[in-house]
Amino acid sequence: PPSSGGTGGPQAAKDRLGNDVRASAWLAEHPPGDRSLVQGLKGDATYLVVTESREVERFAINSVCTHLGCVVPWNAAENKFICPCHGSQYDAQGKKVRGPAPLSLALAHTTVNDSDVVQLS
Ligand code: FES
Repeated sequence: PPSSGGTGGPQAAKDRLGNDVRASAWLAEHPPGDRSLVQGLKGDATYLVVTESREVERFAINSVCTHLGCVVPWNAAENKFICPCHGSQYDAQGKKVRGPAPLSLALAHTTVNDSDVVQLS
């Protein structure tokens, strides 16, 4: 089975206490369309997203701005990620819609393993 912390393989998403994120518990706390930060690949803060059918969205969105690395907050009212540092904007899927960021936010594949832990790769 995949282990967390290895190089290149899937890694368990972690909550702010460093515990593995369990899909069923996480989904119970978040309504469809919601998103919340977990600790993702290489420790980067990463958004898990809830689909309309209450599953973990297949892609998680890395919150690290591709300009100079600020963590980009989700702005629900504007339906965008808006970087507080220099104003870059990304759409709900993390696609860049305004610079100076050169690239869209990075995505990670999500899978839920047998123990119900959300894995990112
Ligand atoms: Fe996000 Fe500069 S670090 S716009």
